[in-house]
Amino acid sequence: MTERTLVLIKPDAVARGYVGEILSRIERKGLTIAALDLRVASEEVAGSHYAEHAERPFYPSLLEFITSGPLVAAVLEGPRAIAAFRQLAGGTDPVDKALPGTIRGDFGLEAQQNLVHGSDSVESAEREIALWFPALSSI
Ligand code: CMP
Repeated sequence: MTERTLVLIKPDAVARGYVGEILSRIERKGLTIAALDLRVASEEVAGSHYAEHAERPFYPSLLEFITSGPLVAAVLEGPRAIAAFRQLAGGTDPVDKALPGTIRGDFGLEAQQNLVHGSDSVESAEREIALWFPALSSI
């Protein structure tokens, strides 16, 4: 079934020059890039995006990190796009969880600066696409 997912190439990945590498992995997997935008996230959008983590001890520093510089927001489309991107990304912790061969497993060391975000469910994808790309969400 064709799905959409919201992906962020986070400020650490942009600063380290991994945008091309990550987009290349997405394209090689066969996912379609339906929207793509380099921007600095506002505190409002970042806070809403990570609202489910508001009670976590790392929430303030997560918001500081995600708004610290340009990131790339994207909407990907394809069969099982949500799971397909999460497979490419690897587990949240780049050392404990992500396997070599994944984006986080190959390029990351820290749980917070883990290079990418991908929606974790159809409901999250709908909410996150509406937040980051309001003009796309009703199409
Ligand atoms: P993401 O997949 O975007 O979803 C929540 C984010 O919180 C996660 O990636 C990491 O950037 C961050 N995160 C998760 N766990 C931790 C942690 N233990 N310490 C710091 N940041 C974390």
